[in-house]
Amino acid sequence: MSLREESRTGKLRVLEGEKIRLRPVEDEDIPKLMEWENDADIVRWAGKKFETVEDAREWHLRPTLQHRTFAIELLGGRLIGEIEVLNITWKTGTAEIRVIIGEKDLWDRGLGEDAVSTLVNACFSVTALQEIFLRVDQDNGRARRCYEKVGFKPEGRVTCTWEDGSPRTILLMRLRKAD
Ligand SMILES: CC(C)(COP(=O)(O)OP(=O)(O)OC[C@H]1O[C@@H](n2cnc3c(N)ncnc32)[C@H](O)[C@@H]1OP(=O)(O)O)[C@@H](O)C(=O)NCCC(=O)NCCS
Repeated sequence: MSLREESRTGKLRVLEGEKIRLRPVEDEDIPKLMEWENDADIVRWAGKKFETVEDAREWHLRPTLQHRTFAIELLGGRLIGEIEVLNITWKTGTAEIRVIIGEKDLWDRGLGEDAVSTLVNACFSVTALQEIFLRVDQDNGRARRCYEKVGFKPEGRVTCTWEDGSPRTILLMRLRKAD
């Protein structure tokens, strides 16, 4: 079953973790998402995603069969980040995830781990996805630790040229439903 079908039935509309809630992105979230996506400390690790607000709106507000973004909020309702599942290939049951905790004063409190594990658990329990992978800069110790806590394992690495022209080593990490 696809994420879109599950979204329609309501099962994947809102996902609750221990400290956070994942919910659909709303139009009024877009300025905050753009602020984070242009923050130098975040762009350094996550790259720059959109040139225009229209592109961001199109991506975040219009889930497709291949991707979907969730807003991450604290259980009290404060918007703190975004997490998305993308590059979904239903034929093979694989997908990628990407996450940003945009409120930097909240890093290192287990919120990233909670958001990633909440989304991954829902993907494995409610949809037909069997395997989730992600890409992370080898030097991004915080993100690597966050993913390791959820159970992701490094599977390989590739060296590439980053947007600023610097060389980067990117780790591919994977978690299988069977794990
Ligand atoms: C990466 C990110 C999503 C993680 O979210 P988070 O809420 O900070 O993550 P968590 O608190 O669950 O886990 C962070 C862990 O890294 C540890 N850590 C922090 N800095 C570290 C470093 N330099 N090296 C190793 N571990 C580090 C923390 O102590 C914590 O581990 P612990 O729970 O065992 O103490 C968030 O920090 C973020 O959005 N960063 C900027 C964008 C980014 O890097 N996105 C990921 C792109 S792949």
